[in-house]
Amino acid sequence: MAKMKIFEYPHPVLKQKSEKVNRVDDDLRHLLNDMLETMYDADGVGLAAPQVGVSKRIVVIDISHPDEGEEQKPLFLINPEIIWHSEEKSCQNEGCLSVPEQSAEVERYKQVRVHYLDYHGQEQEILAEGLLAIALQHEIDHLDGILYIDRISRLKRQMLLKKLQKLRQEEQS
Ligand code: NI
Repeated sequence: MAKMKIFEYPHPVLKQKSEKVNRVDDDLRHLLNDMLETMYDADGVGLAAPQVGVSKRIVVIDISHPDEGEEQKPLFLINPEIIWHSEEKSCQNEGCLSVPEQSAEVERYKQVRVHYLDYHGQEQEILAEGLLAIALQHEIDHLDGILYIDRISRLKRQMLLKKLQKLRQEEQS
């Protein structure tokens, strides 16, 4: 496995709509493994292929807490699609590896049902709530070129991007 470079806002690959995967083969599984390693290394709970510069509908998620002695539970999702969502929504703080060290409250559906192909190309469905539901909606948004900062008010987005710019200037100096 190899660690990949994470592309950050405002790289254009993050704005693109990703393409559907036609075949789940060893090349794709190789990419999935590399994405997982990259996500673990960056302490993320989710990573979508556009974030490593690959415009394909692929997501890896792991919301387990290995630091608290829990076993790692990676989820590999190929061509994930929300096929149902609750009416009820909730607001939680979200961050993103492509928008480093920032976070904001984002409104999401409380529950979602997602259809996808797994690591072996088998069709699967998952009914999720809580952090997993948020991660799924956040990562599937990435596949459509949407970042969580696109889902907050313009004023909050401007403030957040200013902080990001300041952080980058500090890193450079
Ligand atoms: Ni993200």
